[in-house]
Amino acid sequence: MCGICASVGFKNGVELVVDGLKKLEYRGYDSSGIAYLKNDEINLIKSVGQIKNLQEKITDNLQSDVVIGHTRWATHGKVSVENAHPHISFGKSFALVHNGIIENYEHLKKQFQIDNLYSQTDTEVLINLIEKQEGKTLDKLIGACNMVEGSFAVCLIEKKSDKIYLAKRNSPLMVAISQNGCMAGSDISIFAKKFEECFILEDDEFVIASAKKLDFFNKYGEKIEKTPLNISNFDFSDENLNEKYFMLKEIKEQPIVLKKTFFKYFSENYLNEQLLSQLGKFKKFHFIACGTAYHSSLMGALFLEKFCRKECQVSIASEFRYANRVLSKNCLYVFVSQSGETADTIACAKLVKEKGMKVMCVTNVPYSTLEHIADFVLPTFAGKEVAVASTKAYVSQVFTLLIMVLKMAKIDEQDLLKDFVLRYDNFNFDEKLLFPISKFKKVFFIGRGQDYVTSLEASLKLKEIAYLNCMGMASGELKHGTLALIDKETLVIAVSTVESLKSKVESNIEEVKARGGKVLLLSNLVHNVDVDFRIDLPSFDEILMPIVSVIPLQLLAFNYALMLGYNPDKPRNLAKSVTVE
Ligand code: AGP
Repeated sequence: MCGICASVGFKNGVELVVDGLKKLEYRGYDSSGIAYLKNDEINLIKSVGQIKNLQEKITDNLQSDVVIGHTRWATHGKVSVENAHPHISFGKSFALVHNGIIENYEHLKKQFQIDNLYSQTDTEVLINLIEKQEGKTLDKLIGACNMVEGSFAVCLIEKKSDKIYLAKRNSPLMVAISQNGCMAGSDISIFAKKFEECFILEDDEFVIASAKKLDFFNKYGEKIEKTPLNISNFDFSDENLNEKYFMLKEIKEQPIVLKKTFFKYFSENYLNEQLLSQLGKFKKFHFIACGTAYHSSLMGALFLEKFCRKECQVSIASEFRYANRVLSKNCLYVFVSQSGETADTIACAKLVKEKGMKVMCVTNVPYSTLEHIADFVLPTFAGKEVAVASTKAYVSQVFTLLIMVLKMAKIDEQDLLKDFVLRYDNFNFDEKLLFPISKFKKVFFIGRGQDYVTSLEASLKLKEIAYLNCMGMASGELKHGTLALIDKETLVIAVSTVESLKSKVESNIEEVKARGGKVLLLSNLVHNVDVDFRIDLPSFDEILMPIVSVIPLQLLAFNYALMLGYNPDKPRNLAKSVTVE
């Protein structure tokens, strides 16, 4: 999983590509690099770590009008300069950046005797496979790609050439042209303020891009026509960082995201009667997603069963993918994804679509691959989310799914929701809580129903940015095994927002206390139990509490990570968008 960016024609190509890579850094930040043409020869600059390290190696005013760049999330081969992209062919005629995985690279390596590689990457096999093919450069690229199994979005340059060659399968790639040149890359953000329109490539399409021209081809090398997408009204505005960390900025934006979502779904009527009636016809809903989006799916399923009495199922995409599940035409398959680019989620969407099922996606990124596949699209309006840990996207998914469910159930809660979005404001997290909490080696989040889902999400946040070995679980499950772990070194964070389940939560808290465990209670309810720590939540209608209760827990994880000296925006080993299996 990686980000790629290319520029041809623009005199300041190096600057444009490095700026583009910074926007794509959410796709990986293990290493980065550029390849550019100077005096007809290919030159490389690479660095380990974030793009800023690469920038330090690039001399001021380095000019080239043919440039490709890459930001890497390591799959094959350790994090090192050798494994950083771009990769250059043995004959030094070609350089390539690649996002994806060449699954049959070992086989291709043997078949074409591609030995003595400089790196441990599948990409270096691909660039040499390209060089070994017959014909013109486009033929070579098509020939190699047709032999590849797996996923790729690639940009290729050749010495003594003023062109860039593009190809893609199962990884995103788009290209745009203006009077001064072309740019290509992994997502639409790289085109911000430079282009009026862009072309989104389909699988097995190829492009020759030069300063003045774009030519598109299919996998047989035949020329094809493509329709551009107008991006002049695309909102690129919310990428500015006015806080020290994106994660904090994004947590603080949540009240605005809620207002925006309400406005879009009620005033602009994003979910119209026609779509509602189509959704209402499905007897069953099967949600499929990964990570945080899996948690918002669990929440969506709870809402759907409660208010619409629709049968629901929720699957982790990587499990669904190989499970050979029984599919049904009475079921709507709902794919929830912030990015719309998560490989496992996309693979499942393609799989059910190919079998003739209907697909809906709930996604935050317009024109994403998932949107492209879906029959129905439910957009979320969180705005660009940069921090690896998802915060505002989760809240927007939960709120959007709630709105969808209430509309489907024909429950008019518009006033209730409006009052909520108008009154709900940022939560003031008391940092004094951090020190006592930090003394515990074991942390469990517990809850029931919607609070169980919040526990899962809170625990994921703390794991991914503070590296704390913690766990979210259903309170009622404690006594079936996990209670054995409770001792005085354990902190249990109990989430309680459902009046009817209050007494059950209290019993679970007593069970923990009886084993010497310490308890932090996060609740808006009046509880009849003594606890060690409390976070008091503002009170709103119970159906809105999943949104209200998760935000202090996001802040807990954020502040905890800071206290330990970690960068919450860029946790180790992770990337924002997981575009490989
Ligand atoms: C969330 O904090 C995580 N970084 C991760 O679990 C994420 O939610 C998951 O990878 C799914 O991403 P998507 O929503 O873009 O599909």
